Amino acid sequence: MAIADDFQDDAPVEAPPGVMNAKSICDPLTEVIDPARAIFEKWSKIPACEVVEHVNNMRDRAYEVFRMPHIGLYGFLNINLLDFDCYPEILESIKKGALFLDLGCGFGQEVRQVVLDGGPPANIFGADLSNDLMDFGHELFLDKEKLGVRFVQSDIFDHQSTLRLEFRGRFQVIHASNFFHVWPWATTIEVAKYVLDQLSDKPGSVILGTQVGTKKAKNVRFPHVNKSAFFHSTETWKKLWAVVAQEMAIQLDVQATESDFTDQDKNDWPEELEFVRLRFVIRRV
Ligand SMILES: C[S@@+](CC[C@H](N)C(=O)[O-])C[C@H]1O[C@@H](n2cnc3c(N)ncnc32)[C@H](O)[C@@H]1O
Repeated sequence: MAIADDFQDDAPVEAPPGVMNAKSICDPLTEVIDPARAIFEKWSKIPACEVVEHVNNMRDRAYEVFRMPHIGLYGFLNINLLDFDCYPEILESIKKGALFLDLGCGFGQEVRQVVLDGGPPANIFGADLSNDLMDFGHELFLDKEKLGVRFVQSDIFDHQSTLRLEFRGRFQVIHASNFFHVWPWATTIEVAKYVLDQLSDKPGSVILGTQVGTKKAKNVRFPHVNKSAFFHSTETWKKLWAVVAQEMAIQLDVQATESDFTDQDKNDWPEELEFVRLRFVIRRV
């Protein structure tokens, strides 16, 4: 694999011990801002003056059980879909019948945004390895009785999963944020193929999301948990999908952009990594 080979001589960067080791938790919030606030007020019907307390209490409860940085650092309050220029068009297609999947949805905040914006729950799906995370989403958003969205427990590596068997090729929109960036190059190729397999073959069907990237691509080792990952630049991200498209004999239009990385979790990392937010829109041609 030419691109991965380009990086084989590069000594991998070592992640600081706290990362992937679940020690990422910040102080409680003093405010919860839009768009997350709007979901809690308009969808969950929590009085404005109670939102901050509710979110902090839920974060603390969740972190006791799921020791994950995106919980400890309130990543579940980010509604990434709204950052995409194509979101209105995507929303319209969902309203007209396109099936939407939030893959690796965690608590499912993006699912609630689409429902709040008028997406029909029957066209909206969430999937995650952990049923417990998706269940907790109902407690966070107070909507077990009213949401009506189907959440599908699925391991992306399990080719006998419900997602695979029941929904192969059925989604016209797959959103996956903070999902693809935790695996080595070869594994990410495998995951990308799986996700494409879930996507409808209709031209215009789209995979979109945002994740941690780096200005210059790097192999990263997590010695304390014996894992490694390939941190992508926009360039290598596009190349990875070009490899996948070629191997699957399909045509894709891949857009990838970077913006400033403002997350709180970057302080202990070696400076050479230069984190960015990598945003992508991948369409079937
Ligand atoms: C960092 S979280 C991101 C959650 C959410 N997308 C967000 O941005 O807030 C990554 C999610 O991917 C899920 N995940 C990890 N490995 C998975 C797998 N093999 N199959 C399905 N989901 C997986 C995790 O359970 C977790 O909820």
